[in-house]
Amino acid sequence: MLQVRPHKSSDIPLRVKWLNNPQVSQYIGDCSGEKTTLAKERKWFEAYKKNSQKKFFTFCVDDEPIGFMGLSNIQKMNRNAELFIAIGEDAYRGKGYGKQALIWLLDYAFCTLKLHKVNLGVVDANKRAICLYKFLGFVEEGRMREEIFINKRWHDLFSMAIFQKNWKPPYVPF
Ligand SMILES: CC(C)(COP(=O)(O)OP(=O)(O)OC[C@H]1O[C@@H](n2cnc3c(N)ncnc32)[C@H](O)[C@@H]1OP(=O)(O)O)[C@@H](O)C(=O)NCCC(=O)NCCS
Repeated sequence: MLQVRPHKSSDIPLRVKWLNNPQVSQYIGDCSGEKTTLAKERKWFEAYKKNSQKKFFTFCVDDEPIGFMGLSNIQKMNRNAELFIAIGEDAYRGKGYGKQALIWLLDYAFCTLKLHKVNLGVVDANKRAICLYKFLGFVEEGRMREEIFINKRWHDLFSMAIFQKNWKPPYVPF
């Protein structure tokens, strides 16, 4: 059973572990290619607490934290934001938890924050993520060719988005 709670300072060591996991960092790099550290993530968290344009959540299975997700760059005037998700624990990918987590997050974005649109960027090689985003109703809006260099080759970055009017929570037996 998936549980969602606000991201909190005690999650900082988990952020370091998860963001440094190659299964995550290959798709969510900070562009420097460097590993993150406790010091960097403490700094990130201090800035996060003061930033009303970001809302992050940790999700757990049977009380064990397995990943985090959130909305960044929340623009009140334009009513849009950018979505982020990472399952940091290897054993929990490919089991439907990403789907459950994003249904929760999109419901929060469209029903609580009343956003008009949610955007995201995804590397073409990330087939599982693309499959999930399409299932949820995201549509490709653009493509930046050869934008990302991973695993010794260039990859396109897709820009995908979903509108509030098109958000229909799919039925998923939890
Ligand atoms: C991307 C991520 C959030 C997806 O969550 P998940 O729980 O692993 O995925 P799910 O089990 O919900 O599966 C999503 C869909 O992808 C499909 N899928 C799984 N592996 C696939 C693959 N290699 N190719 C195509 N589709 C695949 C599944 O069948 C499922 O579709 P279905 O329910 O219609 O069968 C998770 O794998 C993750 O955190 N990856 C590392 C970080 C990352 O890539 N974040 C996203 C950056 S844009």
